[in-house]
Amino acid sequence: MRIFSGIQPTGRKHLGNYIGAIAQYISSQERGEGIFCIVDLHAITVAYEPIELRERLYDTTAILLAAGLDPARCILFRQSDVPEHTELTWLLCGVTELGRLQRMHQFRDKSIAQRELVSAGLLVYPVLMAADVLAYRAHEVPVGEDQREHVELMRDVARRFNARFGEGKEILVVPECRIPEVGARIMDLQEPARKMSTTSDSPQGTVYVLDEPRAIEKKFKSAVTDSGSEVRGGPEKEGIGNLIEILAAVRGSDRVAVEAEFADARYGEFKAAVASAVVEYLAPVRERYQALRAEESALEAILADGAERARAIASVTLADVRERMGVGAARA
Ligand code: AMP
Ligand code: TRP
Repeated sequence: MRIFSGIQPTGRKHLGNYIGAIAQYISSQERGEGIFCIVDLHAITVAYEPIELRERLYDTTAILLAAGLDPARCILFRQSDVPEHTELTWLLCGVTELGRLQRMHQFRDKSIAQRELVSAGLLVYPVLMAADVLAYRAHEVPVGEDQREHVELMRDVARRFNARFGEGKEILVVPECRIPEVGARIMDLQEPARKMSTTSDSPQGTVYVLDEPRAIEKKFKSAVTDSGSEVRGGPEKEGIGNLIEILAAVRGSDRVAVEAEFADARYGEFKAAVASAVVEYLAPVRERYQALRAEESALEAILADGAERARAIASVTLADVRERMGVGAARA
């Protein structure tokens, strides 16, 4: 089984990214052949600084390694190092419905948020994402809930490609989405109706993977709850529900078990327990990160090796796609 996922090198990675996605990448190394891509070409679809992009790319690489991605057991590479992704994007544009791209949630949200230019890249973003996965004929795509719509689209693109050019064969694999049962959508600690993200208006609401323990404790202590006093989820209990979800995810248990354990606890006590569990969960990552991030040439070497191995797979798919589409000379 082949597993593929991508992560943007923008911003700083937060607890939502970690629980919703990165933790799944790590465990998927046990289940199959993992291919993980740091998607710098997706990052340039919104306003950005070129120098910062390179820095963030190394940050993200080091975080993934610190979290436990093992280059001996998986492929870790930078998207722009494998030109097959952009070529396949263009080819797949021919089987992608424009109206569908215009209706994607992320396109709508991000185009509203853009102050200057709404780039064509922002619209085509999901096609590049489809190309990322389809180039490897991956079976499974571990992501958080916010990426479900993008995976649906790539499934459609693969099906449409096969129907139009496959002559009854599955040339491109139709991948499955893998969204975790617990922690697929971690919410902002200050605004629990919004998902945790780097672009939050309330910096206190986002817990970063590299936050110091004291900062993490402070953020949980000031997390917004509600006027009730019971540790349980449900409507009107979004704040507490989110903390329950976080604790269940970092412990690898479930919401019911957390609610039972804290049935008699007060909010303050419960928040402190969540904070210390998260501190403990992220501490080893933060420690390993420092050493890994300091060695940029070692990070480059890992990415270069990953790109070479990725390209060996993607180029085979591209040759098939070009052949089927009648692009370029026929194969001998
Ligand atoms: P990004 O940093 O946007 O590339 O996201 C990387 C991964 O983190 C994707 O699989 C997202 O679905 C996941 N993710 C982002 N935000 C959250 C969140 N608040 N809760 C759970 N997963 C998330
Ligand atoms: N769009 C994804 C995000 O923002 C990142 C991504 C790019 C991705 N290519 C991918 C995720 C391929 C899964 C598979 O999180």
